[in-house]
Amino acid sequence: MRDVVVIGAGMTKFGELWDKSIKDIFVEASLKAIKDSGVDHIDSIYVGAMSSGLFVGQEHLGAILADYLGMNPVPATRVESACASGGAAFRQAYLEVASGASEIVLAGGVEKMNDGADVTEVLATAADQEYEVYQGITFPGLYAMIAKAHMHQYGTTREQLAAVAVKNHRNGSKNKNAQFGFEVTPEQVMKSTMVSDPLRLLDCSPVTDGGAAVIVASMDVAKKLNKNFVRVIASAQASDTIALHSRESFTTLNSVVKAAEKAYRMAGIKPTDLNLCEVHDCFTIAEIVVSEDLGFFEKGKGGEAVLNGLTSIESGKIPINTSGGLKSKGHPVGATGIAQIIELFEQLNGKAGGRQVKNARIGMAQNMGGSGASSVIHILEVK
Ligand code: COA
Repeated sequence: MRDVVVIGAGMTKFGELWDKSIKDIFVEASLKAIKDSGVDHIDSIYVGAMSSGLFVGQEHLGAILADYLGMNPVPATRVESACASGGAAFRQAYLEVASGASEIVLAGGVEKMNDGADVTEVLATAADQEYEVYQGITFPGLYAMIAKAHMHQYGTTREQLAAVAVKNHRNGSKNKNAQFGFEVTPEQVMKSTMVSDPLRLLDCSPVTDGGAAVIVASMDVAKKLNKNFVRVIASAQASDTIALHSRESFTTLNSVVKAAEKAYRMAGIKPTDLNLCEVHDCFTIAEIVVSEDLGFFEKGKGGEAVLNGLTSIESGKIPINTSGGLKSKGHPVGATGIAQIIELFEQLNGKAGGRQVKNARIGMAQNMGGSGASSVIHILEVK
């Protein structure tokens, strides 16, 4: 396997994009990434999208997006792994360049969730239809069960859950592309509308339209273009049971643990070597559980850590979700994994503005599908 780098990035604003189609959104993000990278051609395209068929009635997304980008006959493939579709698309691009099959690959993600579909129902297609959805469970419901179990087992508190939302909204207020770029107080989080006990409105990621794209290339291409680049030093993926009830524990996400083990081994680093991490905070409890499963904190101590500021940009032991995370930046499910890579690209190149982590050199992106049945992890480094 040869060295693979990211040489350009682009994204749309995240939010309710009523005046843009799914094609407009992907084309906008892709053209920005191409311009940023300075490449004059693309060898192939991967696009992460969870459910364009159900959200906007459009399948065959790879071919359609290549067409609207004016790139036929470039090979274009859609990748689906629920909310980890973006991370999985990036991994395919990484593997294609690492193998030597291509020199320059566009890895993108897109979702248009606000177009009239029953979003809760569409998202629930990523859970076990027979044993979970048929019984009435939704994603807020699944993560609420994880939260209840974590509170019961480790004493995690309502204040600790709220601290995740407060931090991520603070970070998101410094991100011009964030859907909800406003700050919130712990009281506002704890008094917001109940969604699924104990998770309230401000514990949830929103329903979002948006697109993101990066250009993945070989080191040879990066050197010829003489552009800023970051190197992909690990790419790992793992799976777990689709249904929560099949797991030994509700409070450990095995796909995250296994993908992280592989990623740390491949990069030859320890959790303490990371300078920042974008994690999949689809609900506040998810950030707490994942921060433990990635080895940043002892099991059961993730809530205490966020409340004590250990994951903030300012005082951070490990700054988490500097972009605002899914909570504040937004969660257009298929685009999320690519947007996480973009945050690392900007941070590692020192271009994250008001949310810059000082001396950021190594960063991780953790993207997850469903209640953790799939997890994709990448580690990026700048020399
Ligand atoms: N965070 C902050 N504010 C939010 C919000 C969120 N997650 N979701 C909606 N809002 C705001 C809206 O802007 C709106 O504000 P306004 O009244 O000032 O205009 C208000 O709350 C109501 O918005 P609405 O769109 O009617 O909310 P909703 O009740 O339809 O949806 C949720 C709220 C939480 C149910 C929805 O965002 C959701 O399902 N989130 C989870 C998505 C998910 O499961 N993703 C996959 C994870 S695996």
